[in-house]
Amino acid sequence: MKKVSPRPSPIRSSRSILVIHGPNLDLLGVREPEVYGRETLADINRRLTELGTESAVVVDTFQSNHEGALIDRVHAAKTQTIAFIIINPAGLTHTSVSLRDALAAVAIPFIEVHLSNVHRREAFRAKSYFSDLAIGTICGLGSQGYECALRFALAHKT
Ligand code: DQA
Repeated sequence: MKKVSPRPSPIRSSRSILVIHGPNLDLLGVREPEVYGRETLADINRRLTELGTESAVVVDTFQSNHEGALIDRVHAAKTQTIAFIIINPAGLTHTSVSLRDALAAVAIPFIEVHLSNVHRREAFRAKSYFSDLAIGTICGLGSQGYECALRFALAHKT
């Protein structure tokens, strides 16, 4: 008997959403769990793609420890059908003019997410090269911050 899917299958449309994770976020779950929690990146990505599926929107996820690879992924988003980006630039938040420039170049609306509250930590983490370009910044809500960002992106009309 043919299996009937309870949900609409995700359609790659002009409303696809890209979630980008920066350096060291592949270590979530084992990396300073008192700061970043015990969930793995796979756990987080799974929830985000499921949330997208519920709205029939493709959620692509990408992680790299390399600045150039992250920049290339942002460039590729322009030629794909990515309508919105959610990005945790991780340590590059505080250093990377080049990744900032890539986001400015493609002009895709984005939300900046941090698991930890960067304003309650070392002073150098308060500086972001992304916040003034972002539609908004979410920090300190742990992995729920990604979900809040995704719910906004799903409702966002471009
Ligand atoms: C982070 C905060 C950054 O300062 C740090 O370098 C990270 C993770 C966060 O999600 O809380 O790698 O972006």
